[in-house]
Amino acid sequence: MSHSLPTAFRSTVVGTLRREDAGDRVRLAGWVHRRRDLGSLVFVELRDRSGRVQLSFGPDWTPADVLERARRLTGETVIAVEGLVVARPEENVNRDLPTGEIEVHVLALEVLAEAETPPIPVAYGPADELPAEELRLRYRYLDLRREELQRGLAVRHQLLQVVRRFLSAEGFWEIETPMLTRRTPEGARDYLVPSRVHPGEFYALPQSPQLYKQLLMVAGYDRYFQIARCLRDEDLRADRQPEFTQIDAEMSFVSEDDIFDVGERMIAAVWREILGIELATPFPRLTYREAMEKYGTDKPDLRFGMEFQDVTALLQEADFRLFQETKGTRARIRGVRAPGGARLSRKELDQLNDVAKAAGGSGALWVRLTEEGLAGPFARALEGELGQRFIQETGLQPGDLFVLVIGHFRTLGVVSESHLGATEDVWQVGGAEAVLDALRRHLGDRLGLRDPAVHRWAWITEFPLFEWDEEAGRLAAAHHPFTMPHPDDIAKILRYTEAGPLDRDAARALFLQGVRSRAYDAVYNGHEMASGSIRIHDPKLQRHIFRALGIGEAEAEEKFGFLLEAFRYGAPPHGGFAFGVDRLAMLLVGAGSLRDVIAFPKTTAARALFEGAPAPVGPDELEELHIAVIGRSTS
Ligand code: AMO
Repeated sequence: MSHSLPTAFRSTVVGTLRREDAGDRVRLAGWVHRRRDLGSLVFVELRDRSGRVQLSFGPDWTPADVLERARRLTGETVIAVEGLVVARPEENVNRDLPTGEIEVHVLALEVLAEAETPPIPVAYGPADELPAEELRLRYRYLDLRREELQRGLAVRHQLLQVVRRFLSAEGFWEIETPMLTRRTPEGARDYLVPSRVHPGEFYALPQSPQLYKQLLMVAGYDRYFQIARCLRDEDLRADRQPEFTQIDAEMSFVSEDDIFDVGERMIAAVWREILGIELATPFPRLTYREAMEKYGTDKPDLRFGMEFQDVTALLQEADFRLFQETKGTRARIRGVRAPGGARLSRKELDQLNDVAKAAGGSGALWVRLTEEGLAGPFARALEGELGQRFIQETGLQPGDLFVLVIGHFRTLGVVSESHLGATEDVWQVGGAEAVLDALRRHLGDRLGLRDPAVHRWAWITEFPLFEWDEEAGRLAAAHHPFTMPHPDDIAKILRYTEAGPLDRDAARALFLQGVRSRAYDAVYNGHEMASGSIRIHDPKLQRHIFRALGIGEAEAEEKFGFLLEAFRYGAPPHGGFAFGVDRLAMLLVGAGSLRDVIAFPKTTAARALFEGAPAPVGPDELEELHIAVIGRSTS
């Protein structure tokens, strides 16, 4: 990572100095990290991007005036020095620093820039606490001097280089697409930019390069990629930023197999080159339906098993009120076997209820298997033969815990020709899967099953094509409207959309068919890392999808006319993906927040604290943009 090319101010960077360099005369430049006065000697740790080295000022080798000035050096002053690299005697070697076997005996010193006392510390000891993040974001340029943040950005840089090299070698061209665009359909709000020359008209900043990359395929560019900046005005979380970066790629004449092959070899190259870890390829694949049934989530953490088990029929035989009450309803009893979970304390078992409630459930039940048999709130109802069958069916071993949730589990593909009746309820009252998913992850953490040294990637395939928007009473695209439906489900869509855009009832009925798509995600240790799909390249099928989404001809023309038009002139079958760069970098360095791997991130209130954005604009400028402001921010 380090370079040591000489410049006008220095002969080398500091971090690469080693024992072999002893005897060399060097010129160095950087920041005063720390200064220590030891009687006649002065030690200064000099820091640049490559690391730190100890400068030693002493009466036997440093001129008296230089030594005097060294005594007055304060933290973060920028200096240049000239000196001799000297091996440290064995007892003075600092094993914590890569340069710790040497020090530099300073002969000359120049102060290049004074530094005021920084408002936040830069040199931290191992026990020092960081100042509040708000303050650190306000002085981001100082916080970025911290080793940890520097490492985040170094890994991010490496990541982008590996990806560029890899994709380029695979025949992808890096092509930039516009930032001032027409609205793109990724489902978030757009950031808008007013046009000065066209009063009342706005550009949208891209939520992704989706439309452009498809147009590049129509243009015959075969394989495209871009390290793409995406902007989405959405509510922020630890793993979301309003501005973020994607590794965005698109390929022609491909199916899922081709796309997964490129994607997983790219990720394998990243893991190999950055972490020195060889990932097993191909990545396993799970359909969305399998993922939901086994783990209750579309981004399962596959580092551990604990798959959902349905014990409804069995437990309905038990004389326990909560189980009995599920009879004749569509509620299910599902749970997970937590290996070794019987060792959890009573308090920790009580906490399971809180975890369930935080995930929207009403609570969790548990039973454990000890050498004496089943124990727990409903163990008594499982005495005798029923208990034996329970143990056998769930695979419980002595020392294990079984945690279960009673509720309505979302089911995909409940097919009903009627849009009234049973199936409707099934979709409306799902949610118990999220509760059991939360319990599974909590227990995984608690039992040490989510090992950071284990790396489990997978593709989740066949996502639903549609989501149901209850408020608007219509279907919404689950991924985006250009996603190819699953071949076995196309006939259903065509049947429903023959006549034109769907009304509420018809849309709901189509939704209940559980239409699958050719959209997929890449997941890693429980995080969604990438999304993509095979796209529709047939304008006729695209029209049917718009009808299903309740988008009329005129609206489709208005919103996506240019894409539909392009598809009339020979569109190849195509598909692609986008990986989140920020998420990749965050997980590669083991950071807790995306902000740790973005040079100048926004706060959770979407503010940039250091430069102060967003900010009000003066009346003249507003007038020039033909804009009248009718409200002011109070936060
Ligand atoms: P999608 O919207 O799923 O797909 O985004 C792809 C990946 O981008 C990352 N990501 C984010 N990272 C940080 N902050 C955010 N606000 C944020 N939103 C998304 C995630 C996600 O998996 N055009 C499609 C891709 C395609 O179909 O080819 C798209 O943008 O890692």
